[in-house]
Amino acid sequence: MTLGKIYTIVNQKGGVGKTTTAINLGAYLGNFGQKVLIIDIDPQSNATSCLGINKHDIDSGTYNVLIGAQPILPQILHNPRFKLSLLPSSPALAGAEIELIDVQNREYSLKNILEPIKYRYDYILIDCPPSLGLLTVNGLVAAIDGVLIPVQCEFLALEGLGQLTRTINLVKTSLYKELEIRGVILTMFDGRTNLASDVVEEVRRYFGDQVFNTIIPRSIRLAEAPSYGQPISIYAPESTGGQAYKALAKELLAADNIHKTIIQEVT
Ligand SMILES: Nc1ncnc2c1ncn2[C@@H]1O[C@H](COP(=O)(O)OP(=O)(O)OP(=O)(O)O)[C@@H](O)[C@H]1O
Ligand SMILES: [Mg+2]
Repeated sequence: MTLGKIYTIVNQKGGVGKTTTAINLGAYLGNFGQKVLIIDIDPQSNATSCLGINKHDIDSGTYNVLIGAQPILPQILHNPRFKLSLLPSSPALAGAEIELIDVQNREYSLKNILEPIKYRYDYILIDCPPSLGLLTVNGLVAAIDGVLIPVQCEFLALEGLGQLTRTINLVKTSLYKELEIRGVILTMFDGRTNLASDVVEEVRRYFGDQVFNTIIPRSIRLAEAPSYGQPISIYAPESTGGQAYKALAKELLAADNIHKTIIQEVT
């Protein structure tokens, strides 16, 4: 029996660790025996590139699926070594924002596409672009089990989160009333600075117990892994970044009540 959970990773602020979290949380959920699908809905296609796929080689990914030109299943790529599946994105996706404008129920496109296939997977993680446009709204509406918000432990970390919360509330009132924040993930923590610790405190004050206990440290290995086209679970599992994403996966599984006996690492 698969779980069919769908989480959307969102923050309209750029470079906060959305894609890094999608790939590496996903890879460790895979290592813990979960069937994981990553959906790249960012025209930058970073999740696609981070997994070693040339976005310019993709002629049929998220874009074609979203505009209804292709069914989703044949477009999904599987990487048994990474223990991940991916619906890849390509630069063409930038056009979808405009092309979908004339489509009826355009905010529900992704949700409707995922609905019939979600039970093929335990976890579907949707990696959003850094904007609050139609693609992200599609991601929010499809987030059946809630949104994961990475927050970078830097100056002005909370800036923009008010706007994100307002967008989430807007989607809640007008499109999907069960939408909820599943958790806030603190990323790029630099233990050498007081500022980082202050930010952690501030974010915890603001979001309370919605913040995951696991904090993702700043880790050179995490920044390097994409250039090798590998998740950290393959590139440098022993690094602090690798261990942190492994801990985050464990924390999410425990919170989702996946019994401990199931979560033995498959390596
Ligand atoms: N914990 C970390 N330690 C060091 N570098 C990191 C860490 N997390 C992410 N990075 C690096 O920071 C940059 C931004 O991360 P990432 O692409 O995951 O952010 P994003 O929120 O997806 O960005 P965008 O908004 O452009 O989609 C990348 O170069 C990534 O490799
Ligand atoms: Mg990204």
